[in-house]
Amino acid sequence: MVRTVAFYTSNPGKVEEVRTLLSPLGYRVVWRKGALLEPQVDTLEEVAVCKLADIPGKATFAMVEDSGIFIDSLGGFPGVYSAYVLRTVGLDGILRLVKGKPRDAEFRAVVAFRHEGKVKLFSGRVRGALSRSVRGTHGFGYDPIFLPHGSQRTTAEMEPEEKNAVSHRGKAVRQLAAWLRKQTPD
Ligand code: IMP
Repeated sequence: MVRTVAFYTSNPGKVEEVRTLLSPLGYRVVWRKGALLEPQVDTLEEVAVCKLADIPGKATFAMVEDSGIFIDSLGGFPGVYSAYVLRTVGLDGILRLVKGKPRDAEFRAVVAFRHEGKVKLFSGRVRGALSRSVRGTHGFGYDPIFLPHGSQRTTAEMEPEEKNAVSHRGKAVRQLAAWLRKQTPD
């Protein structure tokens, strides 16, 4: 039986990645486009819970996701403000900020999922480092400057399946899939 998951996000790149992960498991991911309330809070978990509370209660399976890049030498900046910082200073601005500093960083994602009134959170992270230049055309956001640990290629130079295999979002969504299998056995 195919089940429908309503994914509320304004980011089509996230939808594609989540679709690639959930479709083979029998879930049809439907994109519910549009901006949700984004509170100014300190953690991805708080943002995700707040976004989920903002969506209509009709869908049986509803999900939101909040994510960001956390740069060690900048005290975790831009973190929950990743989208805003990308829009304002851009990738080149970020590379300027870390010039001469250690480049270790990580992506983090939190998925908030609602199923029959139950709310569950799943999270994932991937460690890596910032590249020295903007490279690659796949993915979105910070992908052209993020080298997952052990890789010479940015996540924007990887095929979507390769990125999903190591990414923060891939990890969170695989946990979600495992939980879903327990809730809704065939
Ligand atoms: P939000 O979760 O929609 O608030 O935005 C998260 C921000 O982090 C956006 O600027 C994204 O571009 C960035 N981000 C989150 N996940 C990824 C990723 O997988 N690749 C590149 N950038 C990401």
